[in-house]
Amino acid sequence: MKPATIASTLLLSCCAAAAAVFPSDHDLRIPTSYESAILGRRILALTPLGTISTVFPKDKPSHDDVAAEERRPAGLDGMPYGLMEYISDCEDDNLGNPTILAITIGTTFRNVAAGSNVSLAVQWTPPHPPAKRIESTQTQNKRRSWLSYLLPGLGTNEKHHDATPLPYSAANLPRFSLLGHLEPIEGGDDRQGEVGSRLARCYVATHPDAKYWLPGNHVHEAHFVRLVVEQVYWVGGFGDRAFIGWIPVEEWQNVTREEWQKARLPGEKKGWKEWSVWEDL
Ligand SMILES: *[C@@H]1O[C@H](CO)[C@@H](O)[C@H](O)[C@H]1NC(C)=O
Ligand SMILES: *[C@@H]1O[C@H](CO)[C@@H](O)[C@H](O)[C@H]1NC(C)=O
Repeated sequence: MKPATIASTLLLSCCAAAAAVFPSDHDLRIPTSYESAILGRRILALTPLGTISTVFPKDKPSHDDVAAEERRPAGLDGMPYGLMEYISDCEDDNLGNPTILAITIGTTFRNVAAGSNVSLAVQWTPPHPPAKRIESTQTQNKRRSWLSYLLPGLGTNEKHHDATPLPYSAANLPRFSLLGHLEPIEGGDDRQGEVGSRLARCYVATHPDAKYWLPGNHVHEAHFVRLVVEQVYWVGGFGDRAFIGWIPVEEWQNVTREEWQKARLPGEKKGWKEWSVWEDL
């Protein structure tokens, strides 16, 4: 078997243990946790979306009008709840605490108001698809969509079933979870003040539509908050070439702007290969 075939067979049958035989021109050196922190800080700076998870508080006898209005069921006490939120990296202390515009009425922020900690999951999404993909034997021989397995009668040459839903291996790319709590940013809601006006400018540069719900808008109560990062869990990709584990929070905070600005992530440049290691980027 060709190395690529072996690798993809193993990739299909299972995961990390197989990684040691993946083809590479290099002796792979796994980045340190600090090098991973640099990549993570760049991902945070370049990524406008994340999933914030909180935990529902103990049920109170419901005098909560909002809960009634949205028909919240009873018995959610302690349930985790995660949903996409806008994020940004707007504070100038450069400590890697994400900036979030909290809409008071949102479930995430009501859970926080009731005492919940938060975790924020962020994944790297490459702006360009790879020129050369990690492929399975199956897709090398003939591309078949998942639908054609369910409905074998379907012709395999139908155009709209040809493309794979994701043009890159997401499992091979970095993602992380920032664990901590939310706190108000002093002066953040004062649009005339130095801090508040700068935050609003930075946030709207990332999220133009958010100009309608900046602090002081007439629709929803909103406040700029920071996620105070207390712990960082990192999965850099496949374990033979990426660091997987906890990054000490001091390392996360220590990364300088210059360091993350110089770093490069997979897919920032056109024509990248999925097998390349971080030093090639
Ligand atoms: C939030 O996390 C801290 C640990 O960082 C913990 O001490 C505290 O009890 C947590 N709060 C809740 C409401 O679980
Ligand atoms: C953070 O940076 C300071 C100052 O450069 C250094 O003394 C410290 O060892 C660093 N800590 C970590 C965990 O990298």
